[in-house]
Amino acid sequence: MDFKEHLKKYLSEKEIDQLINSLTLERTHSLIINPNKINEETFQKKFPKVIKHPFLKNVFYYEHKDYDFGKSYLFDNGLFYIVDASSLLVSYFLEPKENSLILDMCAAPGGKTISTSLNYKNVEFISNDISYQRALTLSSNIEKLGLSNISVTCGDFLQINNQINNSFDYIILDAPCSGSAMFRKMEEMEKDWSIEKVLKQQKIQINLLNKAIDLLKPEGFIIYSTCSFSFEEDEEVILNVLANRDDAEIVSLPHIDGEYRSSELNEAIHIFPHLYKGEGQFIAKLQKKKNDSLVKSIVDKKTINYKSSELNKLLTNYDLHFNCISNMNNQIYGHNFNFSLPKNIKFIRKGINICEIKNKDILIPSFNLAHYLNTEKSIILDEKEVKSYLHGDTIERNNLNNGYNVVSFNDINLGFVKCVNGTLKNLYPKGLRH
Ligand SMILES: C[S@@+](CC[C@H](N)C(=O)[O-])C[C@H]1O[C@@H](n2cnc3c(N)ncnc32)[C@H](O)[C@@H]1O
Repeated sequence: MDFKEHLKKYLSEKEIDQLINSLTLERTHSLIINPNKINEETFQKKFPKVIKHPFLKNVFYYEHKDYDFGKSYLFDNGLFYIVDASSLLVSYFLEPKENSLILDMCAAPGGKTISTSLNYKNVEFISNDISYQRALTLSSNIEKLGLSNISVTCGDFLQINNQINNSFDYIILDAPCSGSAMFRKMEEMEKDWSIEKVLKQQKIQINLLNKAIDLLKPEGFIIYSTCSFSFEEDEEVILNVLANRDDAEIVSLPHIDGEYRSSELNEAIHIFPHLYKGEGQFIAKLQKKKNDSLVKSIVDKKTINYKSSELNKLLTNYDLHFNCISNMNNQIYGHNFNFSLPKNIKFIRKGINICEIKNKDILIPSFNLAHYLNTEKSIILDEKEVKSYLHGDTIERNNLNNGYNVVSFNDINLGFVKCVNGTLKNLYPKGLRH
């Protein structure tokens, strides 16, 4: 069966033609700004050709010919995150309440976790991916934005027993899929498409969704999403799971402009590029029914497994307070909650990476810490110095005390320097130097 034929499961000939035609058009570009660093008005003044999304907070469209945001130092320093405007609808529909614990089961490279963390305060995330390399990318994206409420893990929740069932308030399941909604972004997805691949993914998606319901607290919510146009990976997954268990139900998503709903499951929505400015996406919301099973707490509110006077000095200097301090492979993390997870789910980061331990007791502040801090105590660079700094050069400055300092430009922290007798030694990460 070819791609066009398989869409007949839920679309008319006319709708299929419109959808396939939209896949030949230029893809859209969008980003979400980091409201901890800039507001919508200032961003729009700085980049007047961006266009505000009609209803998503902090989201802008742009043309690639106007701005190459992906290559800007502002991207590396967390002023915004480049992400498709359709995928941002996941956090829009999730609407987590304050103080809730969210599991993002398939999180890398981070669009859903990051947009939710930027838009909702006082929520805590465990953001996981099965791929170690992709989990590292997720971790470094979080690092640039200076987000402090995310623990990144690597593992497969399908491989764990039921010890942490009934633990999470919300689960984002952005499932691995055949990727037909990415045809405009990644041509190789199109060449690689087959109905066999779709059906293989469907089995994994059904298993993941069943596991997600197990892990959810009674009355908690799941957003299930894919970037596939296939009925088999979208509606059919939900219908299959709901037909086989009676502890969850579908929740109707509120109406948005540009949505498409199929008659087979009209509580969920498809995003099609000819109806909405963005790539394709399927989104459904489920709720676990109220029941008497015991809610598990996997949260520990105080753990200190590293102490040193140097660390205390660093924390005091920047007025930092964390309930938990963890040493993971000589990287020190500050976070407010510790989580007990099964052994085969490995932590990659917990909250803010404060510093690295070098030679037993020498602490080198991390790039992540620079992005977490406000600019109050930073050394302000001028335009010429910024170029040198981003290039990785040293900068000469007199009248500064020896030691580590953050440098900033236009009210954005760039990273750390070490002042040694009037020379600012550069700690900007080597991979990001321009
Ligand atoms: C659609 S992508 C996720 C995109 C991500 N949510 C975002 O917004 O940037 C699917 C991810 O699922 C991961 N994955 C596949 N099988 C998995 C499993 N069993 N457990 C966890 N992650 C899995 C893949 O490595 C991939 O990164």
